[in-house]
Amino acid sequence: MIKKKNLYHPSSTFKKNAWVKSKDVYKDAEKDPVKFWEQLAKDIHWKKKWRKAFEHKPPYFKWFLGGKLNFSENCLDKNIERLRNKVALIWEPEPADERPRYFTYYELYREVNKFANGLKKIGVKKGDRVGIYLPMVPEAVIAMLACTRIGAIHSVVFSAYSPQALQVRLQDTKEKVLITADGYYRAGNIINLKGNADEAVKDTKVKKMIVVKRAGNEVKMKKGRDIWWEDAMKVKDNFCKPEEMDSEDPLFILYTSGSTGKPKGIVHACGGYTVQAKYTGKWIFDIKDNDVFWSMSDIGWITGHTYSVYSPLLNGGTFVLFEGAPNWPSPDRWCQIIEKYGVTIFYTAPTAIRMFQKYGDDFIKKHDLSTLRILGSVGEPIDKGSWEWYFEKVGKKRCPIVDTWWQTETGGILLSSLPGVGPAKPAFAGRPFPGIKFDILNSEGKSCKAEEKGDLVILPPFSPGMLRGVYKNPQRYKKTYWSDFGEKTYFTSDIAYKDKNSLIRIVGRSDDMIKVAGHRVSTGEIEDTVSKSSSVLECAVIGIPDEIKGEVPAVFVVLKKKENQIEKVVIEAIKKGIGPIALPKKIYTVKDLPKTRSGKIMRRILRKIFTGEELGDLSTLANPESVKELKKILK
Ligand code: WTA
Repeated sequence: MIKKKNLYHPSSTFKKNAWVKSKDVYKDAEKDPVKFWEQLAKDIHWKKKWRKAFEHKPPYFKWFLGGKLNFSENCLDKNIERLRNKVALIWEPEPADERPRYFTYYELYREVNKFANGLKKIGVKKGDRVGIYLPMVPEAVIAMLACTRIGAIHSVVFSAYSPQALQVRLQDTKEKVLITADGYYRAGNIINLKGNADEAVKDTKVKKMIVVKRAGNEVKMKKGRDIWWEDAMKVKDNFCKPEEMDSEDPLFILYTSGSTGKPKGIVHACGGYTVQAKYTGKWIFDIKDNDVFWSMSDIGWITGHTYSVYSPLLNGGTFVLFEGAPNWPSPDRWCQIIEKYGVTIFYTAPTAIRMFQKYGDDFIKKHDLSTLRILGSVGEPIDKGSWEWYFEKVGKKRCPIVDTWWQTETGGILLSSLPGVGPAKPAFAGRPFPGIKFDILNSEGKSCKAEEKGDLVILPPFSPGMLRGVYKNPQRYKKTYWSDFGEKTYFTSDIAYKDKNSLIRIVGRSDDMIKVAGHRVSTGEIEDTVSKSSSVLECAVIGIPDEIKGEVPAVFVVLKKKENQIEKVVIEAIKKGIGPIALPKKIYTVKDLPKTRSGKIMRRILRKIFTGEELGDLSTLANPESVKELKKILK
């Protein structure tokens, strides 16, 4: 990388070998974005070509209408023609003394076919939803791909979510089948996942549960309902014909937090998602045949879908799937993994980078990280200091950093400078992906000038991989994404600005969502959970800064009755309702919360009191005495 002023440009050798090396691609795409995506779409395998590329009936849009394809066929069948015995998946278990597992493209293809037939045998059909509540094990990848092979819609739920959080999702999507495991390892402990699943399926439609044997912990198998994975795999036919899917048929649902309490089921469509997942990976991570891609994200998140698994497969790459935590049993576990497998592309979140940085640089020096050629960051804004540390200490000033902005809703990366084109600027995500039109709008809905902060929006024709709806909730789809600036403008809920070179920097969210260690957590969801406790009258949750995790929740509660152990009550409620990712750093008991005259809690004021900012106009406040109390407590 060559540094000129504050910008980093790719070296000529990197550029020479990159899939994309010239700015021309942006100009071509801008002229006719729909045609541009059509060109890219030609590179995936269609059983029938589309008759129309794009259709917009606000707030809905479609891509590659009339096209037919199968997702798993694109990931597997098409690759085995060329890469039959190339390793597709390397699984690194958490216990360092356990042997890794390797799957070639052909082996993965075989397993997926068998499991697809296994799912059919228990009655799963095209269009059925299938719940996947699995840790980072190869069976998770097999299960996801098998669903796509038969046209079932997978809904993966993060394995560290609580039974209650899983239950809410299962109830919304009404799955009849849930795939889970006996347990898994996390920082040396065995987590009893099957126990959680058993609790969650009460009051749901789940009739069959397929259980992967992973940790060997004792579990209760319910007769007639529960089936071991290996028994589900006992099928007569080793081949399962890939279902012909319409381009606009749903491919998967993934729940994400929304501003109100209930999570939203984000729906992605087969055709557009495939094209976008393939090409964003190919161009942003420059994936080639001999690359080893390691994305640290859990499959429970969108990054875990698109880049930990799907994009490397669509591009015929090799990817690493790691079961454990990157700093366990020692802080350099992640370096060991890079060294062991010769990882070439490494993708992680700023929270992890800050954590690695905290351990000091000495442990990095012990490892050979010279295979790395691209570093990625995702999930939250990366500060300049962490960017520079990542660049210098991990990438040894050789590797381009791609700071990739996107959302569960966008399905794939939409904002990130391309590594062979550049330039990269610390703390800036950079340029929109070719063919994507962003704008930053002020409160009047006009485009902001350079350096002026505003709301980040996406304009038509959007992108092929963006969401097609919120599962069974069109009102919420409309209200969340298409109401702030009209039905033709997708509102990201992020605040951003451009510099004078038109590079975009993401400042943060404008709604009540917080990013805890890069994970999306809704303050509304935490409030709902805490408010259910019998001793709590009402509560408010805000995000407060944290040195490592970026942001963490702080909970303010007003008590209904005396409660000496309020901290314990709040923590238990959150563990039960959501899971450990949403646990607060601070819990405050207050007499009253600042409210508007209509009774709405003013979280903005709580946040400002916490950070010591100027409070501004308080005329809408109904109870100014609450501010006095808070100032005293938070001093
Ligand atoms: C934030 C994660 C700054 C942003 C893929 C977005 C980022 C939300 C970045 C989506 C980035 C994601 N820089 N902020 N590179 N990437 N975000 O749905 O606020 O878990 O709206 O998807 O994460 O979170 P989600």
